[in-house]
Amino acid sequence: MEMDAREHDVRAVEWTGDGLRLLDQTVLPGRVEHVVIRDVDGLVEAIRRLVVRGAPALGVAGAFGVAIALRQAEREGWDAAALDAAVARIRAARPTAVNLAAGVDRVRPLAAAGAEAVAAEAQALLEEDVRGNRAIGAFGADWILGRAGDRPLRVLTHCNAGALATAGWGTALGVVRELHGRGRVETVYVDETRPLLQGSRLTAWELARAGIPCAVQADGAAPSTILRGLADVAVIGADRIAANGDTANKIGSVGVALACAAAGIPLVVAAPWSTVDLALPDGGGVPIEERPAEEILGPDGARTAPRGVGAFNPAFDVTPARLVTALVTETGVLEVAAGETPALAGR
Ligand code: MRU
Repeated sequence: MEMDAREHDVRAVEWTGDGLRLLDQTVLPGRVEHVVIRDVDGLVEAIRRLVVRGAPALGVAGAFGVAIALRQAEREGWDAAALDAAVARIRAARPTAVNLAAGVDRVRPLAAAGAEAVAAEAQALLEEDVRGNRAIGAFGADWILGRAGDRPLRVLTHCNAGALATAGWGTALGVVRELHGRGRVETVYVDETRPLLQGSRLTAWELARAGIPCAVQADGAAPSTILRGLADVAVIGADRIAANGDTANKIGSVGVALACAAAGIPLVVAAPWSTVDLALPDGGGVPIEERPAEEILGPDGARTAPRGVGAFNPAFDVTPARLVTALVTETGVLEVAAGETPALAGR
């Protein structure tokens, strides 16, 4: 299928054999450029600047990061403490997406076997993620279509939970791609996603490449679009899902969720099982990243707010489980708002 062939070349994260090749998401869609990372400082900086971003992609980058740290330790003669400190820096480079720490933790036990063994396990994680996303897409589309009747769907999404945010295909956008493949997407409302514009820059880029009709809207328009009856379903990704189904995702997701509940349309959260953090009983314990004030006060150094004014810049919010209609993972669909929480599912 032509769409598959084209999507195949959207690779956010790739291992070259001696480094991590990242598609630089800070310059998309204007420029399609890659950077190759071979040291820990470079990786931590790339994660913090959102060169690589999105929970599953961060997990894969973190896992390969351990191989990068091992290589650097060998080159520069680090002792065990220096190696541990470097791995800890990668693990903590961004706090909200549980996948980053989970990716590091998954490969760490293999460190004694060397960088090659670590990279092989990271590659396995990458491949699992793509397979999982395909399953999420199919389960999500089945669930949505089971409730939708025959009409073409108007889907609303927030931030970017696509191929760029994962090892390939995407979670929320994996569901959208699958719906489109079945001929069931009329249009996708893409929240621009302030302040770094992952929606207008990245999601719109992915949808346009895949030939899926879409319209970018201001984040502030989303609740009104939903309440006016212009959307049939909202599908978003997640950075961390607590045991009761509370879901952390990009700031602005809560407004979408409240509007969905008010309008009586489903809010579907699509995420791999690795994003579920059963150690957290509820969303109150999710660490919320706060990013630099400049991102709010004026993009790219062009200040729009008056001098002397401060900013509050939380990068994520937590949607209460009661507002999450369905959680789609690679193992199936849980109807969270109806009481089917991840913990009760007993996985
Ligand atoms: O700050 P970002 O761009 O890393 O935030 C990403 C999101 O909020 C995504 O929706 C989430 O990580 C899911 S990606 C499949």
